[in-house]
Amino acid sequence: MDLLGVSAVVTGGAGGLGSATVRRLAAAGATVGVLDVSRERAEPLLAELGEKVEFFTVDVLDDESIDGALQAMARRAPVRAVVVAHGAHITEPAGRTIGRDGTPHSLAGYKQFIDGFLVGTFNVLRLAASHMSANDPGVDGERGVVVMTSSIAGSEGQIGQVAYAAAKGGVNGMTIVAARDLSAVGIRVVTIAPGTMITPAYGKNAEAVEAEWSRLVPFPNRMGRPDEYAALAQHIIENRYLNGEIIRIDGALRFPPKNPPRSSDR
Ligand SMILES: NC(=O)c1ccc[n+]([C@@H]2O[C@H](COP(=O)([O-])OP(=O)(O)OC[C@H]3O[C@@H](n4cnc5c(N)ncnc54)[C@H](O)[C@@H]3O)[C@@H](O)[C@H]2O)c1
Repeated sequence: MDLLGVSAVVTGGAGGLGSATVRRLAAAGATVGVLDVSRERAEPLLAELGEKVEFFTVDVLDDESIDGALQAMARRAPVRAVVVAHGAHITEPAGRTIGRDGTPHSLAGYKQFIDGFLVGTFNVLRLAASHMSANDPGVDGERGVVVMTSSIAGSEGQIGQVAYAAAKGGVNGMTIVAARDLSAVGIRVVTIAPGTMITPAYGKNAEAVEAEWSRLVPFPNRMGRPDEYAALAQHIIENRYLNGEIIRIDGALRFPPKNPPRSSDR
């Protein structure tokens, strides 16, 4: 799909992977809807990109806010590309299935991960697909594309990541089914499974986190950059023959059950 002259929307558009994607899609000629719970986080991006982007306060669990953003973007140009790259509001600590003392994982905590990452992704997928199914068909009958974001933790989560891994594994599992479901209306669905990408999600410890992960990533020996994710998202949107697939972007990283101690920790 040619991004020139279409609308695209990015959930978590103010975040690390999301904002890099917004920049790429806008540079390729799309008008981009930045959908995020935090307008404040989006301010620098909005100032940088001006008219090419529009911000919407959206919670991915709130249908009305998603629909409102899709409809507003469609007034500018048909929405044909959706990138799902939001985080989640997690207040409970992630943990092992049972703690060292046998205490079971908090069920409320588990549900926070499932709601934010899996239910939120499905909510955007179903509403966006419904909306895009009314588009005029383009080349090959294509009406739209949805790029979802899982994680390599969706197939090899680490100790203590049972809830996150379940949510991301759920996104992986939806991919081929949604692509099959939506083939009748010419909408593609592809999932990106990132390894470790350096984003604000890692907070102020980014340097220490990168030093830690760099030991484990075979090549290139560093964390990924948001623009590397964004370049893949753009390619997926532009390449009509990519569909129903989960694509890892991880420098050949395979998560070990837990990170080995640094030599200085031994
Ligand atoms: N950074 C990584 O290493 C990495 C690796 C694998 C997968 N991922 C996945 O990529 C996605 C984005 O990660 P990131 O590193 O860019 O995170 P980030 O924290 O930089 O950005 C997430 C954005 O989502 C927004 N958000 C949170 N809850 C929301 C909601 N309910 N509705 C709408 N927006 C909401 C936040 O305000 C924030 O702007 C996440 O799903 C994450 O699990 C990231």
